[in-house]
Amino acid sequence: MNQQQHALLRGQFPALAQEVNGHPLIYLDNAATTQKPQAVLDAINHYYRADNANVHRAAHALSGRATRAFEDARETVARFINAPRSHEVIWTRGTTEAINLVAQSWGMSELKAGDEILLSTLEHHANIVPWQLVAQRTGAVIRVVPLDERGDLDMAAYLAMLGPRTRLVSVAHVSNALGTVNPVEQIVAAAKAVGALTLIDGAQAVAHLEVDVQAIGCDFYAFSGHKLYGPTGIGVLWGRTALLERMPPWQAGGEMIDRVSFSGTTFNSLPFKFEAGTPHIAGAIGLAAAIDFVMEQDRGLLANHEEALSDYLVAGLQQVPGLRLVGEPGQRAGAVSFLLTDIHPQDAATLLDMQGIALRVGHHCAMPLMESLGIGGTLRASLACYNNRDDVDALLAALHKLSDFF
Ligand code: ALA
Repeated sequence: MNQQQHALLRGQFPALAQEVNGHPLIYLDNAATTQKPQAVLDAINHYYRADNANVHRAAHALSGRATRAFEDARETVARFINAPRSHEVIWTRGTTEAINLVAQSWGMSELKAGDEILLSTLEHHANIVPWQLVAQRTGAVIRVVPLDERGDLDMAAYLAMLGPRTRLVSVAHVSNALGTVNPVEQIVAAAKAVGALTLIDGAQAVAHLEVDVQAIGCDFYAFSGHKLYGPTGIGVLWGRTALLERMPPWQAGGEMIDRVSFSGTTFNSLPFKFEAGTPHIAGAIGLAAAIDFVMEQDRGLLANHEEALSDYLVAGLQQVPGLRLVGEPGQRAGAVSFLLTDIHPQDAATLLDMQGIALRVGHHCAMPLMESLGIGGTLRASLACYNNRDDVDALLAALHKLSDFF
């Protein structure tokens, strides 16, 4: 991607063209949430201005248009992740709710005392706590795959932990804290060999990698719209038809039923069985616009751009005196964590913010990972497709200044 092409892409994100604290915004907090292109803002605006109506309900024109846009959005998601059937795409509020759905529906109905759930040290709290709740109530046991010293999953340990008791392996595709890309195809194949199901938390992957759920071979894949240039409050659980059909509903209300009577209720078919209540219609439409935006790009060029920028950032950080990278995974996407010897991360983040530089500080909702690394938290810079070398140079210059001063 040449500079001109990239400037055109970046120009589609209005929020980036602003000053913060008297400086041009340098937005490097993309693992927390991404900025939105004009096409997403327009799609949401259009829905509310022109098509706003409830879906699957009324027999009037607006409801018909809203329903079509909403269901087209589901088809768009299915194409984006290469799902075989669009009814396997369940709308959720985000990755967190998607994982909770599987935990509450599949986990509560299928797991028994002594069954094992394999997670990894890298996981975000959203892929830990739902399983802890299920384990407490079913007697299932959580086992945790360790990392090696670089921040990659210890695959030998993983393979050794798999066994006849393993019912589910649930791991991140990409770590939100270290940027590690997990070898999900390998992880899934090994889990399948012992008859375990697999859930991949794709929250940090979808904006950076081309995701093909059939190639990965997993049983469930979850992601959020807002980390993919789409709106907050909308996300996706993809699951295999046969599994989703067997799973009981987890939230109840309108839309998810077939027939309700006080003598008994029957449930709607997929995907509606898992979508109680009025859904986030504008969110689904906005997410489809975000996916269209991504699919319109040359994804190979975009991936090369992000990889080169990530290498440039890592190499630059290594030149800052007193800076220590936290995690040097074999394959990285998005996030880079680091610490400065003489400055508390929170102070550093505040000083960077005063220069218009946005990044995240803290444990990144991965406290067990921080505990395993023996640290309280990190500074984290995370990249998106619209970042450029100027962004990275601004961060590096500010870090050099901090390092000189302290
Ligand atoms: N999970 C998001 C992050 O890593 C919020 O920042």
